[in-house]
Amino acid sequence: MRKVTKAVIPAAGFGTRFLPATKAVPKEMIPIVDTPTIQYIVEEAVNSGIKDILIITGRGKDAIMNHFDNSFELETVLERENKTELLKAVREVSQMVDVHFIRQKEQKGLGHAVSYAKQFAAGEPIAVMLGDDVVVNDKKPCLKQMIDKYEELGGSILGVQTVDHSQVSKYGIVDGEKISDRTYKVNSLVEKPRPEDAPTDVAILGRYIITPGIFECLERTPKGAGGEIQLTDALFLLAEHEPVYAYDFEGKRYDVGNKMGFLQATVEFALRREDLRDEFSEYLKNLNAQL
Ligand code: G1P
Repeated sequence: MRKVTKAVIPAAGFGTRFLPATKAVPKEMIPIVDTPTIQYIVEEAVNSGIKDILIITGRGKDAIMNHFDNSFELETVLERENKTELLKAVREVSQMVDVHFIRQKEQKGLGHAVSYAKQFAAGEPIAVMLGDDVVVNDKKPCLKQMIDKYEELGGSILGVQTVDHSQVSKYGIVDGEKISDRTYKVNSLVEKPRPEDAPTDVAILGRYIITPGIFECLERTPKGAGGEIQLTDALFLLAEHEPVYAYDFEGKRYDVGNKMGFLQATVEFALRREDLRDEFSEYLKNLNAQL
């Protein structure tokens, strides 16, 4: 079985939910505490054994490329001023993994964006990671859990969790049979159903391991929900001729593409930081007393 060493991060969206911030700054560069959201995704990939990352960008996303590049001027200044910790942090970002970029010329949906990864995949399975979903698991990163499942089962794996029934219309929803603790064999998939039409509350949450057969399926996928070419629809086509599984991953997932989820991540990530925890929790306690 081919090992999963490549990850694809679609990052071409306009980020309209974060306007005006995203007018000139890619939404993937908006920081949680002091680190751009896309860096958390890249770190999860690296900590899961991924060696190459393809970021699918679009117009106005140059800041993402600069972030993962060397920054000669900044590094020179930090070195001169003996700011070793900061210098280390800046260098680590550009050295942690090989990052490749391709620009999606038209915005025709997530499935269309992923189809740009065909050459990069070169016949190997790929991980697809969506930047709006940040998942925390200190023991085993979400993507590593999924790679392990892929190695056990040998088919595409969709990362899922059960969501509140009222939220199903935000997600790709999975219908399948449970084959073991936390694992389903997928029978059908539906993108963003109305709650009354949703077969289950099991939602795809931004992590996928996908076999190369997906590219032929994407070519055959018509426009779906929202008039876009949906990855979920292509995965449904794939499930018709090879097994596709869903894995209920362990970890806390934040929807950072949504203002409320972003605020929760900001507060909780700050509380997890040793350098901020004490002062910030004291502040929160005082604030809470005033509410
Ligand atoms: C995308 C996918 C959807 C998935 C979701 C996870 O939707 O199309 O199937 O459940 O990500 O966050 P988007 O959030 O881009 O509308």
